[in-house]
Amino acid sequence: MKSISVFLIGLLLFSCNQTKKQPIMNQKIVIAHRGASGYLPEHTLEAKAMAHAMNADFIEQDLVLSKDDIPIVIHDIYLDDVTDVTTKFIDRKRNDNRYYVIDFTFDELKTLSVTERFNPKTGEQFYPNRFPKNKGNFKLHSLQEEIELIQGLNKSTSKNIGIYPEIKEPEFHRKEGKNLTKIVLKVLSDYGYKTKKDQCILQCFDAKELERIRKELQSELFLVQLIEFPEETKQLEHFATYADGIGPYYKQILSEKINDKFTFTSLVSDAHQLGLKVHPYTFRADSLDEFSSFEEMMQTLLIDANIDGCFTDFPDLVVNFLKDE
Ligand code: G3P
Ligand code: CA
Repeated sequence: MKSISVFLIGLLLFSCNQTKKQPIMNQKIVIAHRGASGYLPEHTLEAKAMAHAMNADFIEQDLVLSKDDIPIVIHDIYLDDVTDVTTKFIDRKRNDNRYYVIDFTFDELKTLSVTERFNPKTGEQFYPNRFPKNKGNFKLHSLQEEIELIQGLNKSTSKNIGIYPEIKEPEFHRKEGKNLTKIVLKVLSDYGYKTKKDQCILQCFDAKELERIRKELQSELFLVQLIEFPEETKQLEHFATYADGIGPYYKQILSEKINDKFTFTSLVSDAHQLGLKVHPYTFRADSLDEFSSFEEMMQTLLIDANIDGCFTDFPDLVVNFLKDE
C-alpha cells in the first residue's frame, strides 16, 4: 500500500512538472528570441517548434503587416536580409534600395524562401557558425499560423508555453496608413489572449504606443516596455503607470568590473521597487562580448543581478541552467 502511495505521489509530481499549466509570471522565464534562432533561421516555424521542444517558457514573435493587413512574423520591416526577395521580385525595391514587407501581399510573401540572417550589402552570414545560409526550405508565416502551431503543440505535449509578441515600428505603419496594433490585438483576442493570465506578454519599443495600448485601447494583457537607449531607463516611474515589466538591453544592467567582479546599475532594483519585471535582451552563446563564457553571462545576470527572465537565441542552455538553480 505504502509503495502504491509513493508511486502515485511521484506520478503526480512528475506530471505537474511536465504540464506547467500554472501561470509562470512569478518565476524566472526563458524567452526564445525569434524561436531557437541559435540553431535554425530566426522566426521560422521550425525554429519555433524547436524552442517549444526545448521547453522555453515563452516564444517571441516580432510583427510587421503585409500589404493586405496580415501580421507577419519577421524581425524587420525589410525583407532583404532574411529572404531571397532580391532575386524573386527584382523591381519591387523602394528608392532606398530596400524591400518592404508592407509592399507585398501575404500570397507573395509566401513565395519567398527564408534563410539565416545575412548582410544584404555583402551577402555575408551574420552569425557564421549558425545554420548555413541558403540551405533548407523555410517560409514566412503569419501570427495566426504561429499561434496555431504553439497552441497545437501545447495540446499535444500537455505544456502551456506562452507567446511574447512585439509590435514593430507602429509609427512607420501609421505613416503607411495601417494600424498594426489594432490588428494584432484582435488576433490575440480571437485566440484567447486577453488578460495577464493568458500566457501572452505584449512588448513594444515605442513607449507612446505601449501606453496607448493600456490606457486608450484598455488592453488587460501583461505589457513589457522595451528600452533601447540608456536615457530611457530614467523613465521607469512613468513606465510603471501602464507596463508590467521592462525589456532593457542587458548592458544597461552592468556597471564597472571591480576586482574582476561585475557590479550593477540600479536598474533592476529600481524596477522591482516599482513592481516591474525585468526581461533583458539578448543572451547569445556565440556573441559573449564582456563575458568569458555563456555560463558566466547567465550567472551574472540571471542570478547575481536578479533579473526575472531573458530573451535568448539558445533557450535550451538557459532552461538547463535554471533547472539547476
Ligand atoms: O524584443 C526584445 C528583443 O527581441 C530585442 O529586440 O531588436 O531583437 O526585436 P529585437
Ligand atoms: Ca523582438
